This record gives sequence, structure tokens and C-alpha cells, in this order.
Amino acid sequence: MRAHEGPAERARFITIEGPEGSGKSTQARRLEDHLRAAGVDVLRTREPGGTPLGEEVRRILLASGDDRAAIDPLADALLFSAARRQLVEHVIRPALGRGATVVCARYADSTLAYQGFGSGIPLDTLRDLQRMATGGLRPSLTILLDVPPAIGLARKPAVDRTRFELGFDLAFHERVRAGFLALAAAEPERFTIVDADRPADEVWAAVRQAVDGIAGPGTAAAREAGEPETAAGRIHL
Ligand code: TYD
Repeated sequence: MRAHEGPAERARFITIEGPEGSGKSTQARRLEDHLRAAGVDVLRTREPGGTPLGEEVRRILLASGDDRAAIDPLADALLFSAARRQLVEHVIRPALGRGATVVCARYADSTLAYQGFGSGIPLDTLRDLQRMATGGLRPSLTILLDVPPAIGLARKPAVDRTRFELGFDLAFHERVRAGFLALAAAEPERFTIVDADRPADEVWAAVRQAVDGIAGPGTAAAREAGEPETAAGRIHL
């Protein structure tokens, strides 16, 4: 990091995505600890949640009672997006504005994967919605923790199972996984795919390498290396 770097050059927005039971929260915590130990100003958050409104929306979205079984997928997408809007405006943008690194477990790609590839809402509709919810704020790096759904779902203890684990079948979760992989293939400069079907320490080694070993797109180091800045890599505050 160079002394004359301003907050906008220092700021990084890292999202961690993946199907159920891929270990996102464990890896997000380890990443937070690792960055903090290196002296980085870091803010870790999650979706849905991260604000009082978001946590309330989370409770509604994840509750698994019978009456919740039939929430319309577009209503789902709108609720996730409302929580996202609040998080972006009240938490993520202010943190990036002061030059922090934001680590967020799940973000807009989850809506494309679950409500788009999983539930069948057209991706264009969801992309319009995401532009509204995020104001165009895109991650500088997205780590996709990839795991076969049968393995990920089996990792979750019964008490932690939410509406998405209880109310949607394996075929849905297979579509979600394939959707994440398709999103990653379409934007290789933003995504790093990590095989999460192995011990947490091995997954962490790969996550760490993705964050430390590669100059994130849009960072000063990437620009020095002569890499082109991509729309996805640039953070607009
Ligand atoms: P959570 O308990 O956070 O799941 P995980 O530990 O696997 O991250 O629950 C979030 C659930 O909400 C998860 O099943 C995925 C789903 N979800 C969507 O369907 N769309 C979205 O936009 C987001 C953010 C999450």
C-alpha cells in the first residue's frame, strides 16, 4: 500500500458466494481476522442482514413455517433486494468511502443464482432490480465456494436449516450451483472459484491466495502491473 493512496484506491469490496453449506461464514471470518492482522481496516457483514431492517427481513425470509412455503419468487427477490439496498447505503458505501475493505457473505449474485437460475425469474429482470438496489456497486473480487449441493446440505445441522434448505428440492439447489458457476464463467476477472468440498483449512489456503496472491482488479497493484481496469473491478462510490 502506498502512502499517497486515497480511500477510493484502498477500498476493496470482497464478496463470498456459494450454495448452502459451502462454508461462507467460516471463510468470511477467517478473511476478516487475516486482513485485520495485516493492519487493514476491515468490515465484515452478511446478507440478508447486516442492518436492523435487514435482520428483520432475514427473519421473514428464512422462517420455515408452512405458511411461508409459497412465497412468490419475485417477492423473494424484492425482499432480498430491499435488505441489500439498506445494507449498501447504510453500511457498505460508508465503509468503502473511508477506505475500508468490506467482506460480505452473499450479495447480488445470490439473487441471480437463487431467484434467477433456481426459481426461474428472468436474469434481465433481476439485473435491473440489482442496479436499483445497489446503485451499480459491484464487488472488486467475488470468491465462489463451490460444493455439490448434496454435500453442502448434509453439512448443515437440522436446527440451522432455513426455508431454502427445507422447502426447495435438490434439483433447485443443483440449478443454483450451476447458476453460480455460469456467473463466474461470464466474469472471470471478478470471480475466483474455490473448491469447497475439502477441509476448511485447505479452503482457507485457497481463499487467502485469491485475496493476497492476486492483485485484485482495480487495485493500485493491478494498475501498476498494467492490467486493464474492468467495469467490475472499479469501485464507484
Ligand atoms: P443463510 O442462513 O445465510 O444461508 P447460508 O448460511 O447458506 O449463507 O440463509 C440465506 C438463504 O437465503 C440461503 O438459503 C440463500 C438465500 N438467498 C436467496 O435466495 N437470495 C438472495 O439474494 C440471498 C442474499 C440469499
